[in-house]
Amino acid sequence: MSSYADVYAGWKQDPESFWMEAAKAIDWLTPPSAALDASRAPFYGWFADAVCNVCWNAVDRHVAAGRGDQAAIIYDSPITDTKGRVTYSELQERVAGLAGALKARGVEKGDRVVIYMPMIPEALISMLACARLGAIHSVVFGGFAAPELAVRIEDAKPKAIIAASCGIEPGRVVAYKPLIDAAIERSEHKPGTVIVFQREQAPATLVEGRDLDWFAAQEGVEPADCVPVGGMDPLYILYTSGTTGQPKGVVRASAGYMVALTWTMKAIYDMQPGEVFWSASDVGWVVGHSYICYAPLLFGATTVVFEGKPVGTPDAGTFWRVIEEYGVRSFFTAPTALRAIKRDDPQGELIKKYDISKMRYLYLAGERADPDTIEWAQRHVGVPVIDHWWQTETGWAICANPAGIELLPVKPGSPAVAMPGYDVQVLGEGGEVLKPGILGAVAIRLPLPPGTLPTLWNADARFEKAYLETFPGWYETGDAGLIDEDGYLYIMARTDDVINVAGHRLSTGAIEEALAGHPDVAECAVIGVADKLKGQAPLGFLCLNKGCDRDQAEVIKECVKRVRDIIGPVAAFKTAVIVERLPKTRSGKILRGVMSRIADGEAWTAPATIDDPATLSEIGDSLRQIGLPVRS
Ligand code: COA
Ligand code: AMP
Repeated sequence: MSSYADVYAGWKQDPESFWMEAAKAIDWLTPPSAALDASRAPFYGWFADAVCNVCWNAVDRHVAAGRGDQAAIIYDSPITDTKGRVTYSELQERVAGLAGALKARGVEKGDRVVIYMPMIPEALISMLACARLGAIHSVVFGGFAAPELAVRIEDAKPKAIIAASCGIEPGRVVAYKPLIDAAIERSEHKPGTVIVFQREQAPATLVEGRDLDWFAAQEGVEPADCVPVGGMDPLYILYTSGTTGQPKGVVRASAGYMVALTWTMKAIYDMQPGEVFWSASDVGWVVGHSYICYAPLLFGATTVVFEGKPVGTPDAGTFWRVIEEYGVRSFFTAPTALRAIKRDDPQGELIKKYDISKMRYLYLAGERADPDTIEWAQRHVGVPVIDHWWQTETGWAICANPAGIELLPVKPGSPAVAMPGYDVQVLGEGGEVLKPGILGAVAIRLPLPPGTLPTLWNADARFEKAYLETFPGWYETGDAGLIDEDGYLYIMARTDDVINVAGHRLSTGAIEEALAGHPDVAECAVIGVADKLKGQAPLGFLCLNKGCDRDQAEVIKECVKRVRDIIGPVAAFKTAVIVERLPKTRSGKILRGVMSRIADGEAWTAPATIDDPATLSEIGDSLRQIGLPVRS
């Protein structure tokens, strides 16, 4: 048995051999002659001369290897009271059928397809059908509103959209089709085809000539075979929040993603093919792409597609019920979900009702895992709780506790150590590597490993500016933190205007853009404030136009609605205060950092560059009025 230290040192000494060895786990049409392609540095590529197909590796080859009768997908939907299983053979048939329908509508290799789906097996089938054709999918999370969907349609220019007629949230059915129709209406780019999976809770009206029913689209159509793609051909684009309202289209290249994800299934998640893996996330997020869809299937495991919430569907025992019922071995969720369960079941009484003895590890990611929550889970769930840190951009864990190689001591509050492929360091303002224990910008030495983003969709310059410019030779993660003497990383905060609400990454800039469009708002700022359940919650500060004498509560209500209509319910924007003016530096920069410290009840000082120190006291006063424990 090798140790983590040996494996990491082995990678560092010879990255090329490390990744070429890992690449042996993949079926290639033409195997790669080399791992790294540095010919376009700092735009690095991996396995660039290989020819492959991701769908083949995730589906067909398991059928060819005799796993056809094994469950590929287990569907469990407490919210609709439905359960089901899809074997690898059935998955192959269903994916080939849908791929045939897309092909019949002219979708070819390199074309984009937007997918807007809730947590049903058809979401994975849609992703895999695109991969089968070499078409590039872009999944949009169901909690985004039509304008956000429109921005993605405009940027990705999809030839087709695949959608379900609705998603189901506790207490309400979210009709998707009107959102899609509105998004297409807003967008200058008009996709030629919309394939709709009709759900009985809210069947959609189809637009003639453009929209097709999921099953009707497949009638009389030849199932499609896997199309060979190049190693660097994109598998998908996934949009994520940046500093501005325009989301970043993270590109995922095919070959490196397959190699890296397959490697993680044993090394990080300690899985064996045939076992059940469950990631309780959503296909709209990177965790869903990597660990609901691709990694478990590439590895020949069984993945659980769960349509429900950690609490309220029907209670805080639902996760443990699923773990018992399907014999889940490794389980992955967000700290927010555990906090919600802990709030409803503090003594873990519901955990005791179920036999969860098959589960070996509980993995957390998506936001900072607070030590309280980790310790509660360790005590009541009784397995090692592994926090790991990653980003949409990387597609897999940068730092983790590699349980399948060696379970290192768990230090609550730290996502543990760098994974092979990542040279993670904490840098000072001048780009110097800081000593252990000192807080700075967390950066990764280039090149990033296989599976991580090679660039942003149609935006090479933005990629360089956003990630590579501040520290030449490094990828800037946007997180601040420190590394201790044992090499454990601690993530403390973001260095940009991104906030993390219930494990969802949101741009305060995008929320500000939505607020600024309100006719009575002259100026605004949005910050994240500490929230017991969701980690952070957005809070808005609004300066109204001179002479505006409208009822303030009314304006706030309209602003809350505006954010919901423009960005979506996922923004969870519920609170705003009206202030006379915003605290700014003399050069006009809004002091969001100090405002956050005031709102969180932390000690704060006015920076020397402040224009008018009284503005900060005014912010404190307005926050006290809404009940926040602000210090003077
Ligand atoms: N489609 C439509 N609306 C959605 C949605 C979807 N797929 N997902 C969430 N929403 C809506 C919710 O219904 C809610 O709307 P509301 O304002 O009308 O109540 C809003 O978006 C905010 O949702 P959420 O942040 O999920 O809060 P919640 O109060 O509904 O639930 C938790 C709280 C803790 C149960 C929930 O946040 C949760 O499960 N968190 C874990 C998140 C997670 O797994 N993230 C993975 C990232 S790796
Ligand atoms: P996303 O791209 O949505 O996955 O969000 C990535 C960001 O979430 C990271 O840059 C961090 O700010 C935060 N994040 C993700 N995982 C963790 C973790 N384990 N600990 C602390 N922060 C995390």
